[in-house]
Amino acid sequence: MSILITGGAGFIGSHTCVEILDAGYDVVVVDNLSNSSRKALERVEKITGKTLKFYEADVRNTDALRKIFSENSIDAVIHFAGYKAVGESVREPLKYYDNNIGCTVSLLSVMDEFGVKRIVFSSSATVYGIPEKMPITEEMPLSAINPYGRTKLFIEEILRDRYNADNGWSIALLRYFNPIGAHKSGLIGESPKGIPNNLMPFISQVAVGRLTELHVFGDDYNTSDGTGSRDYIHVVDLAKGHVKAIEWAFTHTGCEAFNLGTGKGTTVMELRDAFVRASGVDIPYVIDPRRPGDLDELYASCDKAKSVLGWEATLNINDMCKDTWLWQRDNPNGYD
Ligand code: NAD
Ligand code: WQD
Repeated sequence: MSILITGGAGFIGSHTCVEILDAGYDVVVVDNLSNSSRKALERVEKITGKTLKFYEADVRNTDALRKIFSENSIDAVIHFAGYKAVGESVREPLKYYDNNIGCTVSLLSVMDEFGVKRIVFSSSATVYGIPEKMPITEEMPLSAINPYGRTKLFIEEILRDRYNADNGWSIALLRYFNPIGAHKSGLIGESPKGIPNNLMPFISQVAVGRLTELHVFGDDYNTSDGTGSRDYIHVVDLAKGHVKAIEWAFTHTGCEAFNLGTGKGTTVMELRDAFVRASGVDIPYVIDPRRPGDLDELYASCDKAKSVLGWEATLNINDMCKDTWLWQRDNPNGYD
């Protein structure tokens, strides 16, 4: 069985390539390397001892996709390709609508041409907007609070329409909470370009001296220590969730959303302290004002993923910090 992985050279994509190869599938990756490196794929091959097929192409390019589908017998697709920086999406919304929605429409049209009807899509907890209560369950109301989130919401709607028009499709909408961590080999991990937007890569870059101190955005939230709380999930657990979703897609039809998280919240200071313990390196910090748009806390109910997919997270915050540290220590400049 052959799985096409769009955006497979990226952070979550590369870890998913490892798990999908280890599960015995053939892997074909399409990525334009706009936010990733070819080295990640070489390292996937090193970790697994298996080869994958790589096409450097833009997913919006339907001719390039037709070539990939003609040259390979694709059975299912995992679709990661897209942009993900919330702040940039506010400044440059069209760039996000063009790329994130453009990739999806192009991909679905070529899948249609080749009769491939199984897709696993990278959605996000951001589709819950400002949730009324915790934990967040899949049937809670959806809304968007920034253009990035709106692209995820629209793509979910496009995929629901695709299923409604043809019930032969299998569509898994995986709503990730906060993916962090790295492969335990230390060979692949998160390698953001420029100054990181997200908390964990910021902490790990302070640890290796690329940044001087952590800026904690607000200490007056309604949480145990006043700093924001999120449901961090180890990227390897997340990647294994994609294997379960692919197995589901091979045995079911439907369009179903699944939360992938741990069900537990961790505050900024708890994550910083866990990282200090795991690395033995001090992380100096300053308290800054709140970042606009941030919420007190967010955590998932993952009961549906457990009961329907047979998946649950197994790695804890200490594992996430230990593995991130190993990756960042051995690759202080990421893949650069
Ligand atoms: P990433 O940027 O590391 O990976 C995305 C990959 O897609 C990159 O390799 C990039 O080069 C590629 N890409 C982008 N546009 C493309 C195009 N037009 N054609 C071909 N390739 C293209 O990001 P990630 O953290 O691995 O996220 C993967 C997916 O998961 C994204 O869709 C993201 O929105 C979603 N997601 C991420 C998070 C998170 O916090 N990391 C949370 C929820 C959802
Ligand atoms: C986590 C906590 C910050 C950076 C984002 C997207 C979301 C999803 C995951 C894709 C918050 C605090 C952060 C820093 C800090 N992505 N923080 N100092 O905002 O929960 O989610 O990534 O779908 O859509 O919005 O993650 O890592 O940015 O922040 O204090 O330098 O860390 O205030 O409480 P967030 P994050």
